[in-house]
Amino acid sequence: MSRRILLLGSTGSIGTQALDVISRSDDLEVVGLSAQSNWEALVAQAVEHQVPRIAVTDEDLGALAAEAWTDGEVLRGPEGLVRLVLESGADLVLNALVGSAGLGPTVATLGEGIDLALANKESLVVGGELVMALAEATGASILPVDSEHSAIHQLIHGEQATGGLASIEKLVLTASGGPFRGRTRSELEGVSVEQALKHPTWAMGGKITIDSATLMNKGLEVIEAHHLFGTPYERIDVVVHPQSIVHSLITLVDGAALAHLGHPDMRVPIAYALHHPQRTEVPVKPLDLAEVGSLTFEPVDTDSFPCLRLSREAAIAGGTAPCVLNAANEVAVHAFLEGRLPFLGIPEVIDGALQELGSQPIRAFETLYDADREAREVASGLVSTVTA
Ligand SMILES: NC(=O)c1ccc[n+]([C@@H]2O[C@H](COP(=O)([O-])OP(=O)(O)OC[C@H]3O[C@@H](n4cnc5c(N)ncnc54)[C@H](OP(=O)(O)O)[C@@H]3O)[C@@H](O)[C@H]2O)c1
Repeated sequence: MSRRILLLGSTGSIGTQALDVISRSDDLEVVGLSAQSNWEALVAQAVEHQVPRIAVTDEDLGALAAEAWTDGEVLRGPEGLVRLVLESGADLVLNALVGSAGLGPTVATLGEGIDLALANKESLVVGGELVMALAEATGASILPVDSEHSAIHQLIHGEQATGGLASIEKLVLTASGGPFRGRTRSELEGVSVEQALKHPTWAMGGKITIDSATLMNKGLEVIEAHHLFGTPYERIDVVVHPQSIVHSLITLVDGAALAHLGHPDMRVPIAYALHHPQRTEVPVKPLDLAEVGSLTFEPVDTDSFPCLRLSREAAIAGGTAPCVLNAANEVAVHAFLEGRLPFLGIPEVIDGALQELGSQPIRAFETLYDADREAREVASGLVSTVTA
């Protein structure tokens, strides 16, 4: 019997690559798709993959989709997205939404006890403790799609089979360093949106590409790793590795280190998550190390790229601080992409929001939605001050 997959954010970078993986398999069936506003592409996907139900989170555009496509059901708005999760009968939900908008569908999926393939790292950054507790309570599994976390998941699984988790000393996440690796702070003044969007090794959506340029992406991934693997922050390191061939490593108590290698192609971790615990063929070039030649590593420059430091500080402060960090980052990145904020203004806005709002204890998911809203207001105010 085929595994029924619900794909949220199917029109994005991860979403389209996931459809490519699914279309190559006889064991996977798509039962639902979603997008925010790109309804024409979504309807084309529904027709091509013979999907019975879609959700468009923009209400008005959802109405247009419903007029244009009458062969299936169109759900609308954020509530429609949650209904899609609850009513599709999926065995596995792939959450490939971008931003904290992914938290609601993550909660709905895990609350129903449905297994979750998680690309939307923001779900764990914002609500890590509550999300992991929910998965534990309902018995649903979370399979990471981020390449670094997929690598660590595979490495830990191998270690679990032999030595047990106590033998793991550290998790080491690799970072490409982004398009501005090696630049000093003053060399980052005035960099353009076009330059920031030119990622050297990965082709991804706009928001994560800017996060990679500021190194915020790695900060979010440190928080994601902490929640996924239950590892304290002081045992999660980051190293810059410009070739993106080593996807992450674990170091062990006996001095050994295990690494996961391959050419950078997100279809590999997507296929791993969708087929888990099986493996399947993915059409990527086999790794030939002699052809690659050299793999290099260097420390992170946190003076030029303060977002990683800000993420660690928010993570250690805990409570609502990571939620504030994430919301302020989303507002700042959006403003940068629209030309309303300079590149160096991104960490400035995040720092300002964290200083103003600090950290509050989290009592329920509602606390997080309130903190997210408040942080967006504060960050929007800061954007206009930094710009002025
Ligand atoms: N891209 C990668 O290679 C990569 C690698 C590792 C992890 N990730 C993570 O995967 C997630 C998705 O990244 P991506 O690069 O695929 O993003 P993306 O290309 O921007 O796609 C985002 C998807 O989510 C939808 N969406 C956007 N805002 C939404 C909202 N407020 N409510 C509901 N749906 C919304 C978009 O619909 P529209 O098309 O209608 O806008 C699109 O389908 C992110 O958390 C990212 O950090 C990505």
